[in-house]
Amino acid sequence: MCGIAGYVGPRNAVDVVFDQLKRLEYRGYDSAGLAYVDEGRLHVLKKAGKLTGLGSLLAESKPSAHTAIAHSRWATHGGPTDLNAHPHHDQDAQISVIHNGIIENYLELKSDLVSRGHTFHSETDTEVAAHVIGEEYRDGVELVEAVRRAVAKLRGAFAFVVVSSAEPGTIVCARNASPLIVGFGEGESMVASDIPALLPYTRRVAILENDMVAKVTVDAIKFYSLEGKPIEPKPFDVDWDAVAAEKGGFEHFMIKEVHEQPEVVHQCLAGRVEGDHVKLDGLFSDHVWHEIDRINIIACGTAYHAGLMGKWMFERMLQLPVDVFYSSEFRYGEPLLSPRSLAIFVSQSGETADSLAALRLCKARRIRTLGVVNVVGSSIARDCDRVLYTQAGPEISVASTKAYTAQVLVLLLLVLHIAQVREMPGVRVPEIVQDLRGFAESMRQSLDLEPQVKALAERFKDSKMVFFLGRNADAHVALEAALKLKEIAYIPTQECPAGELKHGPLALVEPGVLAVFGATDPDTQDKLLSNMKEVQARGGTVVAVTTNEASAWADEMDTVLRVASCETKALAALSTIVPLQLLAYHLANLRGCEIDQPRNLAKSVTVE
Ligand code: AGP
Repeated sequence: MCGIAGYVGPRNAVDVVFDQLKRLEYRGYDSAGLAYVDEGRLHVLKKAGKLTGLGSLLAESKPSAHTAIAHSRWATHGGPTDLNAHPHHDQDAQISVIHNGIIENYLELKSDLVSRGHTFHSETDTEVAAHVIGEEYRDGVELVEAVRRAVAKLRGAFAFVVVSSAEPGTIVCARNASPLIVGFGEGESMVASDIPALLPYTRRVAILENDMVAKVTVDAIKFYSLEGKPIEPKPFDVDWDAVAAEKGGFEHFMIKEVHEQPEVVHQCLAGRVEGDHVKLDGLFSDHVWHEIDRINIIACGTAYHAGLMGKWMFERMLQLPVDVFYSSEFRYGEPLLSPRSLAIFVSQSGETADSLAALRLCKARRIRTLGVVNVVGSSIARDCDRVLYTQAGPEISVASTKAYTAQVLVLLLLVLHIAQVREMPGVRVPEIVQDLRGFAESMRQSLDLEPQVKALAERFKDSKMVFFLGRNADAHVALEAALKLKEIAYIPTQECPAGELKHGPLALVEPGVLAVFGATDPDTQDKLLSNMKEVQARGGTVVAVTTNEASAWADEMDTVLRVASCETKALAALSTIVPLQLLAYHLANLRGCEIDQPRNLAKSVTVE
């Protein structure tokens, strides 16, 4: 999710790439830097923090050149510091590299390079990549060939942009999963991670596809396969305005982020699943996982709902007792905390005041703390003993969507990690890892339900209340679905386990009420059927969100939305959140609500 920029041409390339970074600021970042080639030398300026810091360095040195690359970093490996900011150079300081994505095998590459005398200055995977490219470059080949050879040694999702002091006027790029776009100007060429950075200079662009390398000069942009075979670029003209471009052509950040979820699954799992097991770095040593006798998950809002999914998974798979607390309740509730308990703080922003206060309470009681956080280097991430980043990239819309999915996935990874350490035969780690590997595709299938969901939204756009119901994991997803509808469509909801209906909420059901049932668990589907019938008998309309394998009962429902089946129940339930996020979005859109900045709400509640 970092910002990438590059320019080669008659203008002052440094001014251009700095301007390009400013047009990518919406993507969120925590450090920035640039490299330019001037009179056969590489110059690098970089700084942690916002662009103003880099801007002041430029104001002092007033550099000028015709080849430059720039980067705004969303930290994944290594905190947001000057040293970790991009660009990074190779051992010989002859090439400069910027990178977006995650290199999964960087540690093994790094130890091999160190054993051969390489020295490193940062904690990043990018610097390792620069050294790998530099080693190939030592063979005297062209930069584009060195990059092509180096990429074959890297595993993970990445986009690279590279310059060399020996090849002024040339920018080389490589892509595997993370976005990279090239711009065809008049006597100038440019590179970016996103279209907004190109629009002021050209609307003629081409997408660098996966497993491709590009050589960019003022008079030509050439594409090659990883095998070195020339590939004809497919340029097209962009007719978006700058604001639309920031949303990748989507109308709102929320719908863009809902659609990013398959990619977020890849990012969240990157470097964390290996073969048929999980590999989580930087956690407590193994003996701690044998000692822990209880887990307390503390969070707010959507993160709290992810915590409930965590409880469901920890208890069913590890038989480890878990309590889930609203942060605001925890801090004033004088919680009973076992000295051998672990407190897990789930937070997208890492700045939520109530969660921070709860964290301080746990630290004062000397309770071990673990953060499940999206924003690298945020307060909760820094203050917890350990942190697992969700790696969902910046989430702009106030309504949290992709971060929720990533939070649940990270909690599942943690369950599997503990099962591995405790050598629990009852936990089918290899099978669950297999399901995780297929989960991005499941989320893609869930997105395919959008046309059906839009039609549903049309039918119920005047609803006065919507029920969200389910059992077990589906009941937890129902809470999150209800929050989405409340916070962006301002529609009151009733959410509870389906079995609770007859204990009160059923009194609210009348003709015209929409009831959405999550029904992915084969073990509870029959019980759910009677709940659905109860609603239909009172004139309610039932929408069942179930899997491809649901039995004939589904045909008795008014609408059935089918997601991919999955042996891992938590994942089957999680994949239903996509159509439910889409339902909230389309109902809100039809009702003319302000989607990304809903009334009364803030993205991060930093006040109590
Ligand atoms: C969810 O859509 C809301 N934006 C809100 O409930 C949010 O999840 C809550 O404020 C917690 O924020 P955090 O994850 O940044 O701590």
